[in-house]
Amino acid sequence: MQTIAAVSLAGGQGKTTTCYFLAKMLAQAGKKVLAIDCDPQANLTFFLNHEVAPDRPTLLEVLKGTVSTEDGIYPTNDENLFLVPADSGLAKVTEYLSGSGTGALILQIRLQAVKELFDYVIIDVQPTRSQICLTAVGAADWVLIPAESATKGVNSLLDTQKFLAEQAQVMAFRGQILGIIPFRDRWVGRTQTLESRDNIAAMREFADDAPVLPTIRESEKFKQATRQGQLLSELGAKDLEYPFEKIIELLEDCKQLNQSIVVAV
Ligand SMILES: Nc1ncnc2c1ncn2[C@@H]1O[C@H](COP(=O)(O)OP(=O)(O)OP(=O)(O)O)[C@@H](O)[C@H]1O
Ligand SMILES: [Mg+2]
Repeated sequence: MQTIAAVSLAGGQGKTTTCYFLAKMLAQAGKKVLAIDCDPQANLTFFLNHEVAPDRPTLLEVLKGTVSTEDGIYPTNDENLFLVPADSGLAKVTEYLSGSGTGALILQIRLQAVKELFDYVIIDVQPTRSQICLTAVGAADWVLIPAESATKGVNSLLDTQKFLAEQAQVMAFRGQILGIIPFRDRWVGRTQTLESRDNIAAMREFADDAPVLPTIRESEKFKQATRQGQLLSELGAKDLEYPFEKIIELLEDCKQLNQSIVVAV
């Protein structure tokens, strides 16, 4: 099981969009996928068309340990894709996590129980330095940092890198940055706008060793797909799926690398 979290400390950077398409495309490729909504805004839960019933467990109960992890997992409309949903009540978990002393490790611990059931866990993370964010980052083998192709995105990238470095220093983040994804890269016909070009160049400059991955193009098709619970290919826009195809390739390469390291040992 590989765990991937989409993290950025500003709103509207493409985290939920990335999680939605990555999870659905991995599931479509036959991988067993668990999506986890680590955001009280619950956008991923909404995109995956899950309605939380008042008396059914969500991520809140899973994190608190009042239900087993499996009891918080629900099927979605997609074969192979499962969800631990959230609603606004998730915000209440902050007290439990900060009081536990090992809040950053809780999600990782809860996921141990289902590690044989899934190939990939995809975590959509709240855009603040909250306890919920800390526990999501603590569970991640890989972090993706989506960042809008604008000044706000570059600033968000810098904040997020600083935050991850701080967490790594205290062993509360033990994964790696899989890559930075420039979001809403705007082209007019065959020409990239200056704003996109300059801001993506700045991301490359600040990326350190992390790769800057293929960009998510600015397009209404993404909104349309998430609203209708579809994939971009189902809307006749397969070319827009390229950044997610690339991430899936990278993840599969990393898995093979890990396997060969294990065999060599
Ligand atoms: N390729 C795209 N081009 C233009 N707009 C897009 C694209 N993809 C998604 N959007 C829109 O951009 C907005 C932000 O995307 P998204 O919700 O994925 O960001 P987020 O980082 O999860 O935000 P938050 O931090 O609030 O959770 C949404 O309104 C979404 O519909
Ligand atoms: Mg979001």
